[in-house]
Amino acid sequence: MKVLSVVGARPQFVKLGPVAQALARTGDIEHVIVHTGQHYDAAMSDVFFEDLKIPAPDVHLGVGSGSHGVQTGAMLTGLDPVLEEHRPDWVLVYGDTNSTLAAAVAAVKMHLPVAHLEAGLRSFNRRMPEEHNRVLTDHASDILLAPTQVAMDHLATEGLAQRSVLVGDVMTDVCLLVRDGVADTPIELPDSMDAHAPYLLATIHRPDNTDTPQRLRAIVEAMRDLSTPVLLLAHPRLVAKAAAHGIELTGGNLHQTAPFAYPQMVRAVMGAAGVVTDSGGLQKEAFLLDTPCTTIRPETEWVETLEGGWNILDNDLTQLRDVAVRERPTGDKGTPYGDGHAADTVASVLREHAR
Ligand code: UD1
Repeated sequence: MKVLSVVGARPQFVKLGPVAQALARTGDIEHVIVHTGQHYDAAMSDVFFEDLKIPAPDVHLGVGSGSHGVQTGAMLTGLDPVLEEHRPDWVLVYGDTNSTLAAAVAAVKMHLPVAHLEAGLRSFNRRMPEEHNRVLTDHASDILLAPTQVAMDHLATEGLAQRSVLVGDVMTDVCLLVRDGVADTPIELPDSMDAHAPYLLATIHRPDNTDTPQRLRAIVEAMRDLSTPVLLLAHPRLVAKAAAHGIELTGGNLHQTAPFAYPQMVRAVMGAAGVVTDSGGLQKEAFLLDTPCTTIRPETEWVETLEGGWNILDNDLTQLRDVAVRERPTGDKGTPYGDGHAADTVASVLREHAR
């Protein structure tokens, strides 16, 4: 059996890590990796392949940045000959980026079976490009590999129950594995911060938070004013928009640095007094690593993180000052994201359902 994975953006490399290892463990599944090139900076791409021991991509489309139409269209153009050459038994697409949608559309047009990993997540916020990508990819795919029961329920509501399988969350696989490996390593903070004092870890990159100057300025000022130092890991989109709007990403209690590699990130979350973010993956990583999270968005796809107060939504920034650093909730939070073996289940399900 041949599986062809299409990835392109940072969170997809994290998901690909455990899946590539699980497919390799089967011993008889051929795995072709196609990188669209949506993310191209070394810190956004290469370091994930190195740290997560992912084989180098077999094909790199080198698409780069652009508007949604330009970027997605370039991926479609690039994918056609690659899919034609390989004619895999499964085209495996990951998450909710433009790379996900492009690969699903390219494959379905060529009558190639498509499997969507991390299917069924919904924010019900149609302003998010990820929401369009998820809905369209789920409806185009032949098998929907859902991370949670809530995702399964969304798929059932949309008439997709027969194509859906609950496999668990592959990001949990890699997060728990890396956690165990970095627990005894030092936390790497910039020189401007005291690594022995409490700190908050922050990321902001959603277009709704970065693309208008008023909104971005409000978020930056709210973080500057916090009483605990904030380490902002600045995504290239944030850096580009802040520069365009003339907004400094430092000042007050705010410290800026480049994005972390995955193990460094996991270690920094483990050591933080709290996480402030609009990232989906980081909300879940904070939950898995027992660090309270405050999410600067009106809603979350990972609703399980809200249970018990591990994650708090604060889109209007009215609670941040009071909740960014808070006691760790007590009580059993269960294992809503699976037991850390989702990727092996993905490999089995793909084999069982191959045509
Ligand atoms: C993309 C995904 C988003 C995901 C995020 C994770 C879409 C629509 N969005 O958002 O779902 O949460 O990745 O990081 O697919 N840039 C660089 N270097 C890079 C990559 C990007 O400088 O390696 C800059 C460019 O200015 C680019 C901007 O970041 O225009 C945005 O990149 P893009 O890939 O369009 O979307 P992200 O915001 O990264």
